[in-house]
Parts: sequence; C-alpha cells; structure tokens
Amino acid sequence: MDLFEPEAHELFDKHGIPVGRYRVVSTAEEARAAAEEIGGRVVVKAQVKTGGRGKAGGVKLASDPADAAGKADDILGMNIKGHTVGKVLIGEASTVVDEYYIALLLDRSNRSFLAMASRHGGVEIEQVAAENPDALARVPVDPIHGLDRETAFRLCAEARLPDAVRDKASDILIKLWDVFSKEDATLVEINPLAELTDGSLRALDGKVSLDDDASFRQNGHASFLDITATDPLEARAAAKGLNYVKLDGEVGIIGNGAGLVMSTLDVVAYAGEALTNERGGGVKAANFLDIGGGASAEVMANGLEIILGDPAVKSVLVNVFGGITACDAVANGIVQALGSLQGNGKTIDKPLVVRLDGNNAAEGRRILGEAALAGVLSAETMDGAASLAAELASKGV
Ligand SMILES: Nc1ncnc2c1ncn2[C@@H]1O[C@H](COP(=O)(O)OP(=O)(O)O)[C@@H](O)[C@H]1O
Ligand SMILES: [Mg+2]
Repeated sequence: MDLFEPEAHELFDKHGIPVGRYRVVSTAEEARAAAEEIGGRVVVKAQVKTGGRGKAGGVKLASDPADAAGKADDILGMNIKGHTVGKVLIGEASTVVDEYYIALLLDRSNRSFLAMASRHGGVEIEQVAAENPDALARVPVDPIHGLDRETAFRLCAEARLPDAVRDKASDILIKLWDVFSKEDATLVEINPLAELTDGSLRALDGKVSLDDDASFRQNGHASFLDITATDPLEARAAAKGLNYVKLDGEVGIIGNGAGLVMSTLDVVAYAGEALTNERGGGVKAANFLDIGGGASAEVMANGLEIILGDPAVKSVLVNVFGGITACDAVANGIVQALGSLQGNGKTIDKPLVVRLDGNNAAEGRRILGEAALAGVLSAETMDGAASLAAELASKGV
C-alpha cells in the first residue's frame, strides 16, 4: 500500500526525521484558516498518490492566507496523471539552499535491500537518474545487519553530498532505516531532503510503500487504508471477497485458479497481438479475476457483474477447468448468474465466450447449448476461445 504524503510525514516524525508543520484540507476556506494557523509563507500541495506533482503544477508557494486560498482553489479539482485532487496539504514553507535525494528499498533482483542517495534531489531526479546513472549512488544493505552509520556515511560520500551535510544526512538515513524496517516498508523515499539556510536538513516530501503482507503485525497502519484511492471496481470486488485486479485491456477474464487465469492473460495477449483496439494497440486482457475452486452460481454472478460493469470491457472470456467443482456445475452457475443479473435489470450487452474443459466438460457444454443464452458462445479449446474473445473485443460492441 502506498501512503499519502501526510501519512509518510507521520511515520517520519515518529522516528525522529524532521518535517515541517502542515495541515490537510479540502476547501479553499480551510486552506486560508490553515495558512493563518501555520503563519508566514506556506506551500500548497496536491494530495494524490503519484509523483511529479511539482512539475504538473500541483505544488505552489503562497505568500499569505489569501494567496493560499487562491492557490488551493487552483489545485483542488486538478487532474494529475489520472488522479483528481480532492485534498491539499498546507505546509510550512522552507527556505531551501539545496535539495538531496535519499531512499531505501527492497531490491528484489538482488534479494536484498538497497540504500540510494543523490546530491541532485528535487523534481528532476528521474531525468538525473536516466541521463547520469552515476549521480545516483547505491549501496546494498544487509537485511540481518541493517543500515549502520559507516554504510550510511559511505553512501553520502559516494553520492558526493557536501562535506558539511554528510553527518546530518547519515543520521537521517539511519532514522529512515528505522522507518523502513520497523514499519515493514518496501520503499521509503525523501525527495527533496532539503538543506535549509541554518544548515539543518528537513524532509519536504515523503514516499512510503508498506508491505501489505506484514499488516497483521502493524495494527497502527489500519488508519492508512484508503479505499477511495483504489479502483472502484477493485474495491467492490474486494468487498465481495473476489480476487480481482483491473488491467488496461478490453477482454474481461474469469477463470478458476490463479495459474489458469495467468495463462489465459497470456493467450489472449498472443491472440490479440495482431488485432487492434480503439487506441490502435493490440487487444489484451481487461482484468484478472480468479473465482477459485468452488465456482458457485453466486460467485460467478458476482464476478460477471464486476466485469460487465467495467466500461473498458468489450468481450468476456470465461475459462474454467472443471475439477472438484465439475463443468456442469459451472455451466449451471453461468446460466443462473446471467438469469439473476437480468432479473436485477442488468442488460448483458457484451459477448461471452465460454471454454469448459476437465471434469464433466461435455455435460457442461450441453447445458450451455440447451440454455441458448443470447450472446453466449462456446469454444472447445483455450486458444480458440482466446482468439474468438479477442476478435469480438477488437470489433467492439
Ligand atoms: N515545504 C516546502 N517549502 C519549500 N519548497 C517546497 C516545500 N515542499 C516542496 N517544495 C518544493 O517543491 C518541489 C516539489 O515538491 P514535492 O513535494 O517534492 O512534490 P513532487 O515530488 O510530487 O513534485 C520540491 O522539490 C521543492 O523544491
Ligand atoms: Mg518530491
């Protein structure tokens, strides 16, 4: 789970990393009051879970409360990389002398942790890292041993941070390691780590990704859960206990078992490679949905409802390998599911390709054939089903 900036600030503050004072507000009037309370110059920052807010015009300095209200008004409602701004942070403005970058992350490919630092922090860090990889110093961190002072100092030296800030930056790196390890994060980043006129360092921005698998031992993190930031269909699927992930293609996928669903994504992408979607690219899967072993009519109805509710979906592929729950039960599930959806006033206007194999496959196909549902097509093989679904999606509905 990625955190919002104030949530990251909260964790930084808890572990002794200096952050400025701030308030989070959702109207221009509240912004004015917050700026008055903080006093002096403030910064108004869009609260969206994406980087590059500064470059997109979502971070602005304001000289007084009236200016803060005006800037908040400009930023609220802005769209930054597909995220609508509903809240802004009003923060104490710092007088910045220089901006550095520090981060700790899980380095999956090296099965280790990695500490990174650069003396060229700020809004151009991605470009700096791409054009001049040497400007970003990297030092592996032993997971058992943790980040010690010597390693932190070596990283600051390799990043060529000015001599005068190396000690202070090493202190902050050690505290950042506390955030990383004690809060079970997979990424913690401070960009910029700003040097102020009095020579002190302060985190002006924070990015934290927490490891969801550790949430059982991080009760304090429950308040960070923010369902409004998740895709609404993902939130609805999660509420129904479905294992659903939204993707950006156009063929809705339902399968039983994660392995089968994953390979279905592959065969659809293969079949759709030569076809074109509305945007001129290849046809691909619109989602991942594993309905698990016991594909009851109710689970099938819930799954179909979620997928048919996605406007990006142009066709649906149901790929089921009958096991303990045999294909005839799945076929009955589909018939009942479509019946109950129509009974609830939902129109099913997208073609459905069904491929049944495994236990009682012939009986399953017979049930579907007999039901003769409009828009439901049967396919014998997985490849055939994928081609048909991709073609239907490419033609559009
Ligand atoms: N409290 C602040 N005081 C002064 N300048 C700030 C403050 N917060 C951010 N900035 C400036 O705005 C830039 C972008 O802000 P940041 O919070 O890093 O957003 P993003 O990384 O999403 O662009 C920073 O690099 C810094 O120069
Ligand atoms: Mg930043």
